[in-house]
Amino acid sequence: MPAASVDSDAEFWLFGYGSLIWKPPPHYDKRIPGFVTGYVRRFWQDHRGTPEAPGRVVTLIERSFWETLTDHHDSTADKVWGTAYRIEAPRVAEVREYLDIREINGYTIHYTPFYPSDGSPTIKALVYIGTPENDQFVGPQPPQQLAEHIQKSIGPSGPNKDYLLSLEEALDGLSPDSGDDHVKDLATRVRNLEKEASGAEDRAVNGIAVANEPKKVGSRDEQEEMEK
Ligand code: BEZ
Repeated sequence: MPAASVDSDAEFWLFGYGSLIWKPPPHYDKRIPGFVTGYVRRFWQDHRGTPEAPGRVVTLIERSFWETLTDHHDSTADKVWGTAYRIEAPRVAEVREYLDIREINGYTIHYTPFYPSDGSPTIKALVYIGTPENDQFVGPQPPQQLAEHIQKSIGPSGPNKDYLLSLEEALDGLSPDSGDDHVKDLATRVRNLEKEASGAEDRAVNGIAVANEPKKVGSRDEQEEMEK
């Protein structure tokens, strides 16, 4: 629905399951942790990075569609945890417009029940989902290949790995059982890749240091040879 035709008297709730968890939209007056069901969160959307090597961000996939795919992460929790934001009534059209510009590219809009973690009544929330018709939809990939892609992608919004690690941390902060196995597995792989990369860098630095050290002279003959 175009932002201009939004009924400004209706409550508008937005479900954030990616960067919206730690980067809230403007003009919200309520923020509630909780979950939706019937979807699966996956790092299957191209975003950020350079056009040649776009990074990956999360998208929600309808669970019924996901079940038809062969995913290397072949199990998933029933609940997708995130944060619902209520937008101040007079600002709804403005925020919808902002979100359309910021986020809509490559996503489709759904409305779905949101379950607040404190057990308060269910809320109807807007959620952006990924479908294979969207150009930026990538689909299943081997986790190690995906982790390597995330580890090396850097774009206008910063390193892609920061997005992944921030998401892991933000999810852990929502509730004791809000962690996401897909996100955790990728974050662990990226941390391991970082360790490997910094180990390789240390070895390279030490190698250069050794190569640049003055050559030790082992024998009188060698010393005489050098002094010539
Ligand atoms: C989010 O929750 O951060 C989000 C994900 C996809 C599109 C829009 C927002």
